[in-house]
Amino acid sequence: MEKKDIDWANIGFGYQKTDKRYVSNYVDGAWDDGALISDDTITMSECASVLQYAQTCFEGLKAYTTEDGKIVTFRPDLNAQRMFDTAKRLEMPSFPVDRFVEAVDEVVKANAAYVPPYGSGATLYIRPYLFGISPVIGVKPADNYQFRVFTTPVGPYFKGGIKPLTIKISDFDRAAPNGTGHVKAGLNYAMSLHAIVTAHEEGYDENMYLDAKTRTKVEETGGANFIFVTKDNKVVTPKSDSILPSITRRSLMHVAKEYLGLEVEEREVYVDELTDFAECGLCGTAAVISPVGKIVDHGKEICLPSGMTSMGDTTKKLYDTLTGIQMGKIEAPEGWIREIL
Ligand code: PLP
Ligand code: COI
Repeated sequence: MEKKDIDWANIGFGYQKTDKRYVSNYVDGAWDDGALISDDTITMSECASVLQYAQTCFEGLKAYTTEDGKIVTFRPDLNAQRMFDTAKRLEMPSFPVDRFVEAVDEVVKANAAYVPPYGSGATLYIRPYLFGISPVIGVKPADNYQFRVFTTPVGPYFKGGIKPLTIKISDFDRAAPNGTGHVKAGLNYAMSLHAIVTAHEEGYDENMYLDAKTRTKVEETGGANFIFVTKDNKVVTPKSDSILPSITRRSLMHVAKEYLGLEVEEREVYVDELTDFAECGLCGTAAVISPVGKIVDHGKEICLPSGMTSMGDTTKKLYDTLTGIQMGKIEAPEGWIREIL
């Protein structure tokens, strides 16, 4: 199959329209059969629940070209399950897990010419989303919904690729205790925009959000979980009921333990211990693992011993092993890789 003429090595993390997208409508209490379509626009009521009350959620995963030329996705069943759970929390009808996975297959197949070649540094980002489309004016869930999947080729989420980031401890909160931080609701991202724009204006790459109740514990960033490496080479990740259960982070903890033989801990991480860590990284589908070189806590600089020029050794091993699994260079655990083409 002939690939599109795209400068794969130099694309950033932006939207580029591809040929086909999947759409299924929820009307009269049931999902229809769904179909691939070409139209990239959506027409809806001015009073649609997504527009008035932000009744929307989404997922993010990627398609990769492997070393031997196959097109694969990474653990799409976990994205399907997470959207299923998110929809429940937002009083939306869940899209069935098996149909989600099949819809992703179909869209990737239909846009195979946009899946970046092996070794290009780019991937095809897949964006499933679900929103209330029928009008509501009193505060209540919509009657009708749309589930869609589009794709777009992307490069690194952070400009500069794997250059360590400088992040700040934010005074804004991302998620409330007993709120929606653990699900992928669009509203979590809308309310983080002011915080990220502010951080960028101040010269930081990202925010570190703390737990809203005590502001003593590390939560996550606006779009990635944290992993830390201790000076004795343990991999630590924050445990919290108000962070998104990252599929990348869950996979990395398995890789650390089973592939690299490292000790791993999922536990509360206090701001006070940040000075004790040797390495820090942001992990997620978009971020992959982006190393953090410096954390600024209200003017106080915490410089990670791994420095500002390259990834720490353990972060690099985690990165190489995870991307090796995704690109078919390293054998994957059972069920992690779904071959599409
Ligand atoms: N945390 C937040 C808030 C996110 O938006 C994401 C991205 O999906 C992640 C963490 C990472 O999750 P995953 O590894 O499943 O992409
Ligand atoms: C992802 O990693 O897929 C996300 O959804 C994060 C988003 C901020 C780009």
